[in-house]
Amino acid sequence: MPDSVKSQTKPQGADTQEVKAEEKDAVVSAASTQVNLKDPTQTQIYLRMLKYIKPYWLMFVLGLIAAVPSGAMDGAIAWLAGQGLQKIVVEGREHFIYYVPVAVLIIATSQGVFRFLESYCIRYVGAAAIRDLRNELFAHLEKQPLLYFQGQSSGVLIGRMINDVAIIENAISQTFQSMISRMITLISLAAVVILQSWWLAIVALSILSCIVLPVGILGRKIRKSSRKSQEAIGDLVSVLSESIQGAKIVQSFNLEHFQTTKFHETNQSFFHNTTKAARHEALLSPILAFIGAAGIAAVMWIAGYQVVNNHMTLGSLTSFIIALLLLYSPIKNIGRINGVIQPALAAATRIFEVLDKVPDLIEAPDAKELHGVPHQIRFDKVCFQYPGTNQQVLRNIDFEIPAGQLIALVGLSGSGKSTLANLVPRFYDITSGAITIDGINVNQYKLESLRSRIAVVTQDNFLFNTSIEENIRLGRIDATREEIEQAARAAYAHDFISDLTEGYATQIGERGVRLSGGQQQRLAIARAFLKNAPILILDEATSSLDNESEKMVQEALNNLMKGRTVIVIAHRLSTVRHADRILVLQEGSIVESGNHDTLIEHNGVYKRLIEAQFERQEA
Ligand SMILES: Nc1ncnc2c1ncn2[C@@H]1O[C@H](COP(=O)(O)OP(=O)(O)O)[C@@H](O)[C@H]1O
Ligand SMILES: [Mg+2]
Repeated sequence: MPDSVKSQTKPQGADTQEVKAEEKDAVVSAASTQVNLKDPTQTQIYLRMLKYIKPYWLMFVLGLIAAVPSGAMDGAIAWLAGQGLQKIVVEGREHFIYYVPVAVLIIATSQGVFRFLESYCIRYVGAAAIRDLRNELFAHLEKQPLLYFQGQSSGVLIGRMINDVAIIENAISQTFQSMISRMITLISLAAVVILQSWWLAIVALSILSCIVLPVGILGRKIRKSSRKSQEAIGDLVSVLSESIQGAKIVQSFNLEHFQTTKFHETNQSFFHNTTKAARHEALLSPILAFIGAAGIAAVMWIAGYQVVNNHMTLGSLTSFIIALLLLYSPIKNIGRINGVIQPALAAATRIFEVLDKVPDLIEAPDAKELHGVPHQIRFDKVCFQYPGTNQQVLRNIDFEIPAGQLIALVGLSGSGKSTLANLVPRFYDITSGAITIDGINVNQYKLESLRSRIAVVTQDNFLFNTSIEENIRLGRIDATREEIEQAARAAYAHDFISDLTEGYATQIGERGVRLSGGQQQRLAIARAFLKNAPILILDEATSSLDNESEKMVQEALNNLMKGRTVIVIAHRLSTVRHADRILVLQEGSIVESGNHDTLIEHNGVYKRLIEAQFERQEA
């Protein structure tokens, strides 16, 4: 036997893992290069966010209306306090001693009511808008083709789903809730100030307006560092989820230290950017305080002369200074809001980037339902290349599976078998050629209809973190308990399920970790039984199992294959031998085809593959 075949076939398991690791690297680097392609303007982002508020406009308007009196009453209190002082102390009108405090109390009480209305309405709208955004985001993700998920790290996506949305929610409620009433407060106080002495107001307000400058500069910096820290969160989630899901690999390769270092580095980057944002935010506060103090000092100085020279009443000066002091808080708040809005704008940009990703896999406008059984499948000069790569994975694939027949794909790891099988349920669109089912191109069928007719069992079937019953039910959501049991029996799973103390209600843990490989596999087969699809794809469904469980799983599979059109990828001779036809793949091309006996007689690639396998078993 030639050396090349031997060396290629031996480390099959290792091979696949290397391929997977390479894929992952490619995926990670692809994800990190595709950040922020275009930066929409702030106005565009605001307008787009407003669309989410629109359905709740009534409540929103109510909140805004309530904000007006609630904010204006600050001005009223400032004015009242100064005027009261003037009447009582300067003019000696004693009964005002009673009027003023009562008026202040009444104003404060009604301000409380309006504040409540304002706060509740706006928060409600914020929460509702965010709920809708989150739903839309998830529904959009579910529409994306497989390649989309393979093209980026799950941490980044999860980060967007959870963090970015939370940041926006915070911004919506804080912005509208405080900004609107603060604005009104600002206006009412400014009105009081101007009414008391317009030129003094100009002096004070022009000093206070210097605030705009530091807010603008620091705001930009805050935005930048919080964008970076959000990206770091995505990376943190990535490392974390990989370490949890890959705990076994991490431990068996002693990668704990490696992973810990990676985590520390990412965490450090998060720390660095958070502290940077904190530094800028912290800097903002004393700068604003200083500007405020300078404004007050200037007013005291100028107005002091005015009062002494009788150009201004004491009451006016009091109102003026109270209003000015009250002004400081809303201005500071509005400055702070900028620190909330900036990260939210960054978050919204990232979320809209996800929402704007049009799914590549498009359903034809007049897509058809796939009916009838069993189906005939045809590949017509199919070529395929994974998007973003420059190598053809499949070349000129040409074959037909008559209805109800079993076809086997064999070939070395990486020769394109899984890729070929994945094209039938249209997980990817082909580069050229055509794949037809019953004479009609797969891209002319409704995706849902097409996929409902195809069951796929691979070596790594995703089990959900719920009960056994619910996991099998995924095959057909409306199945009854009897049907589920029937499927489990056909898959040789009923016995082991019944032996569990909680039977079908047993929780199987994340990805089914509480079950053995063979048990997981039989659940996946039960799921496929329940789905009862006329086309079946088995991709190395038994390859990760030991001999004992393999036998059982193989029998379950034999049951499952009956009466369906089957594509089987198997490393086991026994399955392949009974195939109606065997296709031998080599580097993406079919190099041999025929049944077992003719291929052995042909004395080519197939025969060498079989011999190599035989040797492996002997060893
Ligand atoms: N999602 C993917 N993106 C890019 N290349 C891929 C992807 N999946 C597989 N490949 C490449 O396609 C080739 C065929 O892979 P595959 O169909 O999995 O082979 P097999 O199932 O025969 O082992 C390999 O070179 C592999 O690296
Ligand atoms: Mg494969």
